Amino acid sequence: MEKLFLNEGWKFTEEFTEVLLATDTDISGLEDVRLPHTCKELPYHYFDENLYQMVSGYRRILSVPMEWKDKCVFFTCEGAAHEAVLYVNGIEVCKHSCGYTAFTVDIAPYLLFGKENVLVLKVDSRETLNVPPFGFVIDYMTFGGVYREVYLEIKDKQHIKDVFVKGKAKDEYTGNLICQVELSEAAVESACEKKMLRGFLQRVDTDCCPVTEDAAFLQPVKVLEKAADGKVVVLEQEVSDILLWNTKQPALYEVILELLVDDKIMDSYTVRFGFRNVEFRADGFYLNGEKIKIRGLNRHQSYPYVGYAMPESMQRLDADILKFELGCNAARNSHYPQSHHFMNRCDEIGLLVFTEFPGWQHIGDEEWKKQACENAVEMITQYRNHPSIIIWGIRINESQDDDAFYTETNRIAHELDDTRPTGGVRNFKKSHLLEDVYTYNEFVHDGKKPGCEPKKNITSDMSKGYLITEYNGHMYPTKPFDWEEHRLEHALRHARVINDVGKEEDIAGSFGWCMFDYNTHKDFGSGDRICYHGVTDMFRNSKLAASVYASQAEENIVLEVSSSMDIGEHPATILGNVYIFTNADAVRMYKNNHFIKEYKPTDSTFDGIPHGPILVDDVVGDLLEKEEGFGKKQSEMIAGALNY
Ligand code: GAL
Repeated sequence: MEKLFLNEGWKFTEEFTEVLLATDTDISGLEDVRLPHTCKELPYHYFDENLYQMVSGYRRILSVPMEWKDKCVFFTCEGAAHEAVLYVNGIEVCKHSCGYTAFTVDIAPYLLFGKENVLVLKVDSRETLNVPPFGFVIDYMTFGGVYREVYLEIKDKQHIKDVFVKGKAKDEYTGNLICQVELSEAAVESACEKKMLRGFLQRVDTDCCPVTEDAAFLQPVKVLEKAADGKVVVLEQEVSDILLWNTKQPALYEVILELLVDDKIMDSYTVRFGFRNVEFRADGFYLNGEKIKIRGLNRHQSYPYVGYAMPESMQRLDADILKFELGCNAARNSHYPQSHHFMNRCDEIGLLVFTEFPGWQHIGDEEWKKQACENAVEMITQYRNHPSIIIWGIRINESQDDDAFYTETNRIAHELDDTRPTGGVRNFKKSHLLEDVYTYNEFVHDGKKPGCEPKKNITSDMSKGYLITEYNGHMYPTKPFDWEEHRLEHALRHARVINDVGKEEDIAGSFGWCMFDYNTHKDFGSGDRICYHGVTDMFRNSKLAASVYASQAEENIVLEVSSSMDIGEHPATILGNVYIFTNADAVRMYKNNHFIKEYKPTDSTFDGIPHGPILVDDVVGDLLEKEEGFGKKQSEMIAGALNY
């Protein structure tokens, strides 16, 4: 069944009142809005969280046809920050207390068929809520509103409730397909003899891994007669002639599952997935048995002016920027699950993702922890079909050890997904390692110290994997309009860290802090409510540091020179060091059409990355000899002095 999107036609008020619930409410004073929506349009900077903290109301009329009678009418809200109560025709249907996961509820029992119905969402975006990430300071704005899509799905009472598809790679061309299918109560309970679950597998055509005529196939997945003898049915089957999902060839498949009762298709459910194995070993990260160094950036989901409320096209664009402009092979969803549009694109382009549940340094009381565990359940069940996700973060970012709490979050993660390891981001060494991978924010590099410490200094358990989840960030905030030396040092710090990580064989990789600048609370940032930690600005325009990442990729030629060669930009008009960021085989430098020097990647002193920055050590060449009549020796001496 198709999704019926309800993104249009909402009325909005910044002040929720019970009056909204009535059918005859005067709606003339309410604002017309569409989703995704921010509860407050914000300035670029110099604002605080009070602007978006409110209990707002969204109201919409829904015409419900008679045909929906006796059906399930599932209402899904993909994201409402941070607590949402849904009312149908004045009756409270459910409350959801996480701003970063979706909720789905059957609203059929509350609907009037063949009539107009009133849907109301009460959305609390106050930071006083006792749910993650709230309770202490937070280095990012948490924005508010129904900022992701809302839709309906109409299903028979006998339907497929949920499907987890595990595509395991057996060898390069063979996979094991496991579909864990959860059926609705009605489907389980129905005594009908002629009931079956069948499935088909087909490759999905994407721009990064198109389906050619020969490769396309639709093959039946095991048919289970009388499937409904339990709530969860598992279909398992070996499939051959498949393409594995990886970063270079992100082959996607879909399984179409059909529930047949008396030969009638009662429900059909499609899941997109990939065949691939992820593994963190003591010596690094392996995708389908191949060792890959993770090189990524942290991504918040915020944008200027609209907070979190950006549509599909922009979510997808961020994934493309990370992979195709910044040359990354990975992203960390800091510090909460992000839009499925972003995730879908990561699946399509082969971008590896670290997804974590919401939280920032603070662990609250028992009620708060219960909600955090619920958030872990929602994150994993809602996101586990994305092949791009390689690890779950199930520790509140940078929180203290709390063995009871984290034993439980690990249990949840392993129970709901036996195909992925767990991690949990900490900011201190040798903490209790209850997860499968030690994931650590490594801020040792201060311009002088090395880019990272060896693994043995960080974790006592050398048998597990080790991944760096942040570096730089607050160690060197940099505005796009900072002076040149500053922007250069920012870029070099990023280069030094990925270079040093590159040389540590047993570090799985690293995620830099961060992809783009972001609005933040008063305790952080530059006083204007912006953290200038990005390698791009808030609009995703590159800073110099972006070229450090861009130049590691091979697909497009990158050439960025760190200086505009304007001496007036520099103290005492001394140009200072100039670097070339490039992945080209060679870069030839000319001054007024006179050839000065040819630089090659091998000229770089950075040997831990494919393409380190190259120092421009000569801006004179043989100009003095050729143009000024100096002798060769004299010319070399004077050029040396000038370059110095
Ligand atoms: C980390 C934190 C991030 C961000 C970063 C700034 O400690 O996890 O959310 O605040 O510092 O460098």
